[in-house]
Amino acid sequence: MLNRGDFDYICRLVQERSAIVLEAGKEYLVELRLKPLLRDCGVADMGAFVERLRSDRSGTLQRQVVEAMTTNETSFFRDIHPFETLRRQILPELLRLRAGERALNVWCGAASSGQEIYSLAMLLREHFPELLGWRVRLLATDISREMILRCREGRYSQLEVNRGLPAAMLVKYFERVDMDWRLKETIRQMVEFREMNLAASWPGLPTMDLILLRNVLIYFDEATKRAILGRVHGALRGDGYLLLGGSETTLNLDARFDQVRLDRTLCYRVRGGDGGGRI
Ligand SMILES: C[S@@+](CC[C@H](N)C(=O)[O-])C[C@H]1O[C@@H](n2cnc3c(N)ncnc32)[C@H](O)[C@@H]1O
Repeated sequence: MLNRGDFDYICRLVQERSAIVLEAGKEYLVELRLKPLLRDCGVADMGAFVERLRSDRSGTLQRQVVEAMTTNETSFFRDIHPFETLRRQILPELLRLRAGERALNVWCGAASSGQEIYSLAMLLREHFPELLGWRVRLLATDISREMILRCREGRYSQLEVNRGLPAAMLVKYFERVDMDWRLKETIRQMVEFREMNLAASWPGLPTMDLILLRNVLIYFDEATKRAILGRVHGALRGDGYLLLGGSETTLNLDARFDQVRLDRTLCYRVRGGDGGGRI
């Protein structure tokens, strides 16, 4: 059993390192997620585990605890409508706007196991062949080292490809590896993956034409959401687009974004930026 002091210690550690807020009553979740780490450490109970954690000088165990407390739920073409809107409206507009530069920068700030950015990479390859002559940079980041390693591998189980991936894309862009499916090199090489904590510094980030920051702000407190959105505002080009998760918004957090409805998708644009403030 996890006692109050140990639970508070883990909550503080996780919030300090990742900004993820674990609310009271989530003791069961902490115990469930940390169970494999207890096994790896060879300790019998949570008390002994937290003692080990408190004296972890290398920081490895602390990092593993933070990673274990992230929620990595994702799928190919998640929620589908944002990808339809990207294909029909956002990407054609960005291609028109950048036709002179022939360069496009996209950042996915909470990549999880990679399905979101790889969905976009396949969509670009499938519907925008003219981009082959452009400098297209797809950067995908996540706080979890384990997730970034998975992303680079680009390997998915049958269950994972069954979730949202059209059969035609599976056939065209994946190859069988034992019981799994691996994205072909042509798609994998389109994306650069990097560990990055949204609540820490963002080194070497170019100005972005499109930012996907979906289903991650929900884990943070209001001050962190404001701080991150403030920096997203600085990282997004004046005529670029920001996409958030279905239950996330900039409203009441950062007035420097306009909410724009395109088809069935809510997008965010820099208020007063070159993109105009269409509602
Ligand atoms: C629910 S997944 C969302 C994945 C994908 N964007 C989607 O919508 O399907 C949330 C991801 O955010 C990552 N995450 C949580 N806190 C983070 C932080 N402080 N910095 C960067 N990534 C973080 C987690 O590791 C996890 O992979």
